[in-house]
Amino acid sequence: MEQRTEPYVVHEEPGLKKYCSCGLSKNKPYCDGSHHGTGKHSYKVQIDEPKTVAICGCGLSSTKPFCDGSHQSLKKT
Ligand code: FES
Repeated sequence: MEQRTEPYVVHEEPGLKKYCSCGLSKNKPYCDGSHHGTGKHSYKVQIDEPKTVAICGCGLSSTKPFCDGSHQSLKKT
């Protein structure tokens, strides 16, 4: 599987969101329960107001589940 080199940019409405942490979800960036048995858990984030968020798709962010720009290091020049 090819590594994704950009974030998932999604508009969220208020509520509890569960984002994939294991990389196995078929509904990324959201958790679909595929992590069961891996020892990993989804990232649970409470969104308090409607807003657009950038969820890490490359796996390198140090502020997961959010993108911190680390994917820029993967882009070819
Ligand atoms: S997609 Fe931006 S840091 Fe991973």
